[in-house]
Amino acid sequence: MSVRIAPSILSADFTALGAAIAAAERGGADLIHVDVMDGHFVPNITMGPPFVAAAKRAAHVPLDVHLMITNPDRFIEDFVKAGASMISVHVEVLPHLHRTIAFIKEQGAKAGAVLNPSTPVDALDEIAPDLDYVLVMSVDPGFGGQRFIPRSEAKLRAVRALLDRTGSRAAIEIDGGIDHENVGRVTAAGAEIIVAGSAIFHAPDVERATRELRAAARAGVAASPSPAR
Ligand code: DX5
Ligand code: ZN
Repeated sequence: MSVRIAPSILSADFTALGAAIAAAERGGADLIHVDVMDGHFVPNITMGPPFVAAAKRAAHVPLDVHLMITNPDRFIEDFVKAGASMISVHVEVLPHLHRTIAFIKEQGAKAGAVLNPSTPVDALDEIAPDLDYVLVMSVDPGFGGQRFIPRSEAKLRAVRALLDRTGSRAAIEIDGGIDHENVGRVTAAGAEIIVAGSAIFHAPDVERATRELRAAARAGVAASPSPAR
């Protein structure tokens, strides 16, 4: 299993966006994670398509855009045009999740479904084979810098089992409260894409923090359950 590191730009210094992305990339970032919040689905407002377009001009790696918004269908095209290579949407806001996932793929992006901490894994039962990735929230979405919810480790294992059972090839992403101390445990539990905001961008040396997070993540991989693929 390979591990991908996705630094979350939400915790970066926005006055030096290009430098922050460059430092993360020098440290081995595989993706740049962009948190889009609407002040409605979550209690915070962050960035929109113009910010994604700016990040796209600075980044050499793909942009992983996490939509924490009530009406993602309305904005998917705009985010793809702005440069999103991956788009994830919350199952909690989408009665027609199948249609939305198909639409993201039609636009040429990879499609992910996100589960809040209180959302049961079996919400993915019918959609799993259509997904490129599943994002497991390990904090309640809305803010960077929150504490990792320990139960998320068991949830990662349950998602891994569901993907194997449904024959899905989706990758598993984890987001929220990930740091150098717990990252090995989440990769051991099956996480393959690691989002980290404050652990990377609040560190004194972003390049080094990215490199060390990657090393700690890889150390957990040896213990991880092997996906049936
Ligand atoms: C939380 C966001 C996260 C956040 C992660 O709602 O989805 O991506 O930026 O930040 P940390 O790693 O600081 O928890
Ligand atoms: Zn996120």
